Parts: sequence; C-alpha cells; structure tokens
Amino acid sequence: MKKVLIATDKPFVKVAVDGIRKIVEGAGYQLALLEKYTQKSELLQAVSDANAIIIRSDIIDNEVIEAAKNLKIVVRAGAGYDNIDLEAATKNNVVAMNTPGQNANAVAELAFGMMVYMARNTFNGLSGTELRGKTIGIHAYGNVGKYVALIAKGFGMDVYAYDPFVADEVIKNDGIKPLKSVDELYSTCQYVSLHIPATKDTKGSINLDLLSKMPQGATLVNTARKEVIDEASLQRIFETRSDFRYVSDVAPDNAAILIEKFASKIYCTPKKTGAQTEEANINAGLAAARQIVDFFEKGDVKFKVNK
Ligand code: 3PG
Repeated sequence: MKKVLIATDKPFVKVAVDGIRKIVEGAGYQLALLEKYTQKSELLQAVSDANAIIIRSDIIDNEVIEAAKNLKIVVRAGAGYDNIDLEAATKNNVVAMNTPGQNANAVAELAFGMMVYMARNTFNGLSGTELRGKTIGIHAYGNVGKYVALIAKGFGMDVYAYDPFVADEVIKNDGIKPLKSVDELYSTCQYVSLHIPATKDTKGSINLDLLSKMPQGATLVNTARKEVIDEASLQRIFETRSDFRYVSDVAPDNAAILIEKFASKIYCTPKKTGAQTEEANINAGLAAARQIVDFFEKGDVKFKVNK
C-alpha cells in the first residue's frame, strides 16, 4: 500500500487534513501525519518509508531525499519551491511539484491588510493616508500578483505591473498598465508589491538603487521571500529617507535592528501568515493530494517543477 506523508512544521487546519485523508484513503493509500516537528531527525524518520510527501515551507534537502528511500513524489502545497533541493530530487528520481495559485488570494489579501495597517500609522489613531489614487506596481504578474492587481483596482489604486515573462497584452487585458523595466516600475510606483520567487538571479536583487527610485510616500510590500531583498540596502534606505515604509510577511534577518531604529516605518508579521487561511490550506492541501493520486494512477506530471 502506498504511503503518503503530510510533513508540516506549520500544520494545515484540521478540515484540510480531513480532506487530504479522504482523497488519499479513497485511492487506497495510507496517510501519515508529522506536524509541528522541531527536530530534523523527526522528519528524517518520518520520510523513511513514505512514497509521497506533502509539505509547506518544510525543508526537503538532499539528506531528507536520501533518507526517503521509497519516495517518488514530493508536493509543496503552495507556490514557492525554493525549500526543495530540486537537483537532489531529480538525481533520486523524485518528482517535485507545487500547487500554483491555490493560496494566491490569501497572500494577496494579507498584502492589503499590511498596506492599510501601515498607511493608517499602525492604527495609532493619528491621521494617515488612503490607498485610493496611489500608484502600485506589481513586481511579477503571476498568481499572487494578479490577485493583488485585482484588489488594488477595487481600492481605486492606479495599477502597474512588470513581468518579463508575461506578454503586455495579458496584463493590459486585466486593465493593468504594463511597464517595460524594473527601474520604471520602482520609479513610477509609491507602492511596490513583490511577487518574484527566490532564485539565484533574484536573491538580493531589490537593492538601494531600485529602492531609491521610488517616489515620495514609498511603501515596499514583501509577501514573497526575504532573500530577494538586499538587507543592507533596506537599512540604508530607512536611514536616508524618512518617507520610506516596509511591510513584510517574510521578516528580514536584520528585522530586530530595523524595528528598533525605525519602529513605526516597518511592520513584519510575527510568523509567516500569507497562506494561513482555511481556504488556502484546503485549496493547496487538497490540490497536493489530488496531484499525488493523479501522478500514481495516471502518470500525470502537469505541475512538475524539476527536470
Ligand atoms: C508559498 O510559497 O506558497 C507561500 O510562501 C506559503 O508558504 P506556507 O505554506 O509555508 O505558509
């Protein structure tokens, strides 16, 4: 009997686990659960006889893959798969997948929650600003970026996007203005919402040069990955511009220093919260379970992300 392991340091809501169980057991497989683990050794032990694993931001490195002798597929219930060693997966004939789009609305809604919180001076009662009429730039027009654009239009914002991998026509069809370069995006937009993945090309790419281009009243919104920000640049921009604000669901390593020095201008969620909704857990979790069953039963590799 095939064994599917849910290995989630940050567990799904119960209703999502129940839904995954129904799909997995309905296919005649066994479901195992490892939640809130604190030691890597627990993960290594749990994966040892798993044929499939469902994860969130859990780290699946070479050691984990090598320990999972029977592993055929690992599905990241979510968008970013920078937590999976894809080369190790390929080398060991393990298919890696994500579940694109399934938690996108949850992340986009959080971006606006943080924007309003910051625009209203962290709800301290002093007069703040509104989002209506402000320029917002979507940096990468993928699943989350699209939802951010849609909600931004509802707020009456002036919405721009930059994505070299998406045709201008697609962006225009959604009523969003495509821009030609990343420089143009940052120099045009008071708000920039980051939706780029963390790759070797993007890590540290949001630097002082770009941030300095942002107009007065600048707020950078990061629900993507902390690694895409050059942290020294972030500190420098706070030191040089009193109007700069940063809201993030992925706190930088230097968050404590920044919060101490620039308290009212930076907000980071205490724990990564973007995909923490019942809906997102259900959407991503159940999609992961279905993808595993479709992979074993039909050889379906539609959402494969490794070679
Ligand atoms: C993602 O890449 O899907 C998000 O960062 C959500 O991550 P999480 O499942 O760990 O909350």
